[in-house]
Amino acid sequence: MSNTESSSEKQLPRWVGPLVFSMTAGIILVLALLAVSIMERRWEAQRPALVLKPIAQWEPDNAVWGQNYPREYESYLRTRATNPPTLFGGATQRDYLERDPLQVILFAGYPFSKEYKQARGHYHAIEDVTGTKRVTAANMATCWTCKSTDVPRLMAEMGVDGFYKNHFADLKARVTHPIGCQDCHDPATMNLRITRPALKEAFAAQGRKIEDATHQEMRSLVCAQCHVEYYFKDKYYLTFPWAKGLNVDQIISYYDEIKFTDYVHAVSKTPMLKAQHPDFEVYSQGIHAARGVACADCHMPYRSEGGVKFTDHHVQSPLLNIANSCAVCHRWGEDEIRQRVEGIQAKVQAVKLNAEQALVGAHLDIAAAMQAGVAEAGLAPARQLVRHAQFRWDFVSANNGVGFHAPQECTRILADAINEAQQARLAVARLLAAKGISAAPNYPDLSTREKAAAVMKAFEAGEKPNLL
Ligand code: HEC
Ligand code: HEC
Ligand code: HEC
Ligand code: HEC
Repeated sequence: MSNTESSSEKQLPRWVGPLVFSMTAGIILVLALLAVSIMERRWEAQRPALVLKPIAQWEPDNAVWGQNYPREYESYLRTRATNPPTLFGGATQRDYLERDPLQVILFAGYPFSKEYKQARGHYHAIEDVTGTKRVTAANMATCWTCKSTDVPRLMAEMGVDGFYKNHFADLKARVTHPIGCQDCHDPATMNLRITRPALKEAFAAQGRKIEDATHQEMRSLVCAQCHVEYYFKDKYYLTFPWAKGLNVDQIISYYDEIKFTDYVHAVSKTPMLKAQHPDFEVYSQGIHAARGVACADCHMPYRSEGGVKFTDHHVQSPLLNIANSCAVCHRWGEDEIRQRVEGIQAKVQAVKLNAEQALVGAHLDIAAAMQAGVAEAGLAPARQLVRHAQFRWDFVSANNGVGFHAPQECTRILADAINEAQQARLAVARLLAAKGISAAPNYPDLSTREKAAAVMKAFEAGEKPNLL
């Protein structure tokens, strides 16, 4: 076994070794040159013969950023589009009150009963906030916070508190650029960053540090700067009600503890809470959040152009871009994906409409009890139930996506809302029975927006249409 060198195998000619060696070296060289050339071409394609210009710290002009990053900028500009709508979503300003007149009564005593339209793309944020009847010169500047990329600069200049303390109209001339690059990016590194203090403060209130967020979490947290539930602390300071946690029960308990009220309901005199758009909170209760899928995975998927992969900045309904979003992870066909989403949404929508019937009934029952002379103190428990029930309903209703982000959670919340609204009605029926009234109240016709608006206005004017 020590004799391997003098093996009897036939020796190859001496020149074979060097030949194989030089051929291999040649092939490696050619491959290396090819790789370098591909990488160069990629690099050129990504940075088309330009040197990146430095971008100022608070640069609000998206076009300036666009000189360095044309693909991202051009795709961002597509948020201008008002594409054909999807079944429930899309970049179309659907008129919610026209479609669903019961909401006119649900928001009686609050501006949402006068105008309530579906959101569209980021490019329109300033136009739409100045166009709505809900926001007037009397509002605080806080309302600008989630509309414009001028906000981080103004906050740096005035201080956060100083910024919020202005009136909406005071800053109108200085807030001109809609949501843009610097809201989510650090201009020096292009890393994702958080520019809105309310989100950092909400993390701090939970004893968490936003700086510890992973890269994948940042792909949702940049959205959570704006797509969340909030209120104005002391009537001006933007605050997320997250100190107890993100689910609806914890948020209700937070609001009850600080005795917060958005408006007093014009029909039932209930101290109400209005939900804003708790997209991040609802998403965080769903299967995709649990599996680490971020907002950007569905709403800003990768796209390829000329062999270059980049993040599509046309933030929109994923149903208008199924191939690049859902289909990357799910092998169902496009039609099946759409049907699954619409199926989930239609079910949530059906339960949501049931909750509206129960809630409108509860407001009117309480109003009937007031007309029957039931003592105010006796109505407090029913009003508390209605306050909670309507916030739950609104948490699902005002959240975007019609329940898709967390279907089971949304149905659970609506089931609680229906239960509480019916409990309130039961309590009122008992109070009415004690007064000898056993017939159901005389419910007004609310079948169209006009009819509902007439009833709402009568209550707002204190005219009290007779319900007995
Ligand atoms: C798993 C994919 C997925 C994730 C993750 C996701 N969404 Fe969605 N989102 C959807 C779908 C599907 C819809 C419904 C679109 C429709 O009805 O046209 C939707 C709707 C929306 C809408 C309304 C858009 C419209 O056109 O009606 C907004 C706003 C939104 N999502 C924000 C978010 C935010 C913010 C996050 C993260 C906190 C998030 N989404 C996470 C899939 C997702
Ligand atoms: C709402 C937040 C948001 C806004 C606004 C935004 N981006 Fe992005 N951007 C992202 C996210 C999320 C990514 C993916 C980052 C990652 O995963 O590392 C990204 C990635 C990028 C990248 C890295 C390359 C790529 O395509 O993945 C560039 C460059 C970029 N954005 C440029 C811009 C420019 C230019 C604008 C303004 C026109 C802009 N972004 C506006 C969220 C945003
Ligand atoms: C600075 C605040 C802000 C940030 C950050 C932000 N949004 Fe928005 N978003 C808005 C506002 C405001 C609107 C409504 C604009 C309108 O209706 O004019 C909106 C609208 C939308 C829509 C509706 C567009 C459509 O075509 O249906 C989607 C979807 C959306 N955002 C998703 C996201 C996602 C995903 C992120 C994070 C990657 C994000 N947004 C980050 C404020 C923000
Ligand atoms: C980054 C990958 C990813 C993307 C993008 C994604 N999903 Fe998912 N999806 C998942 C994962 C992971 C699960 C959980 C699967 C599990 O745990 O069994 C899931 C679960 C689901 C479920 C629940 C399935 C069930 O049987 O309960 C539906 C429905 C769904 N996704 C639809 C969509 C739609 C619609 C889109 C596009 C708007 C989408 N997903 C985008 C990864 C993704």
